[in-house]
Amino acid sequence: YPPNLQMEESSGLSRANCRAKGGAPGFKVAILGAAGGIGQPLAMLMKMNPLVSALHLYDVVNAPGVTADISHMDTGAVVRGFLGQPQLENALTGMDLVIIPAGVPRKPGMTRDDLFNINAGIVRTLCEGIAKCCPNAIVNLISNPVNSTVPIAAEVFKKAGTYDPKRLLGVTMLDVVRANTFVAEVLGLDPREVDVPVVGGHSGVTILPLLSQVKPPCSFTPQETEYLTNRIQNGGTEVVEAKAGAGSATLSMAYAAVKFADACLRGLRGDAGIVECAFVASQVTELPFFASKVRLGRTGAEEVYQLGPLNEYERIGLEKAKKELAVSIQKGISFTRK
Ligand code: NAD
Ligand code: LMR
Repeated sequence: YPPNLQMEESSGLSRANCRAKGGAPGFKVAILGAAGGIGQPLAMLMKMNPLVSALHLYDVVNAPGVTADISHMDTGAVVRGFLGQPQLENALTGMDLVIIPAGVPRKPGMTRDDLFNINAGIVRTLCEGIAKCCPNAIVNLISNPVNSTVPIAAEVFKKAGTYDPKRLLGVTMLDVVRANTFVAEVLGLDPREVDVPVVGGHSGVTILPLLSQVKPPCSFTPQETEYLTNRIQNGGTEVVEAKAGAGSATLSMAYAAVKFADACLRGLRGDAGIVECAFVASQVTELPFFASKVRLGRTGAEEVYQLGPLNEYERIGLEKAKKELAVSIQKGISFTRK
């Protein structure tokens, strides 16, 4: 194998080490679950990100093939592959950002919570590795059910004594991406001009788009509000049903994950005014975790913003969201205490 495909150690033939080709400074990013439906396009897009100097691709299957393929792209990041649990520690050591799309996806008829039994254990193991090998890394957690996997990760980090709530972010960016797209369709705008805050969590009624706060300012009829809220809340199910057993959103998710990871890296670099929605430890409501706008900086989610004024429709939606969220959060916390 050439150096980047030697799954354990580099042979020393490569002079690149962990510097981006051409010498540009950058961040070290690991993707856990890199050979999956999300992982592969996510790896490709991260290889194209000029802020990334080293890209570690870890999976329990097919990591060598994906690594060989991605490593031929003539962009700066140096790619290395890591296959299976014995190589998890090497994959994680020294990372600035760890993105986790590892775990099983839904099939038609399933809820995200139906994935809990398999994905909870996967997330726990991967987070134990992070606590040990890169406790200061920012973690972007994609694996479902996000409403429970983020509390699981928090408990693992607490147990290891490495927990910093600012560095653990559940990725809800796909809800924002969908909301921007669907709202733009209704308004007849370019989606790139639209910004819809989506708060709460990442499942059904916990996905709460704040249509009263859309930018540019606009108003919706009650029918439009109902249509948009339902479509945004069920966007994941729309894709699961269209794929008819072949999985859930992967391409739009990879796009959303890269948009979010890039914002985290720009925050780490020290750029000002980076604000995105994420599911984080929060005091915005009485729940310990909640998705809302956060300001990303050198230490992660440095500020968690309040929800701002809600209309009556959103206030009712918030109560429903909190009820379901409370159960999912508690399920995650209880899992790690068994
Ligand atoms: P997939 O089955 O195509 O890929 C998952 C990958 O994870 C596979 O390559 C698998 O080998 C790997 N994996 C399994 N166990 C692992 C372990 N212990 N360590 C490392 N890798 C492991 O699934 P997918 O479509 O890529 O979806 C992945 C997850 O992302 C699912 O849980 C899905 O529900 C979730 N998801 C979340 C969002 C979101 O908005 N947060 C959006 C879409 C999908
Ligand atoms: C999504 O929103 O697309 C993901 O959470 C995957 C799913 O199961 O819907």
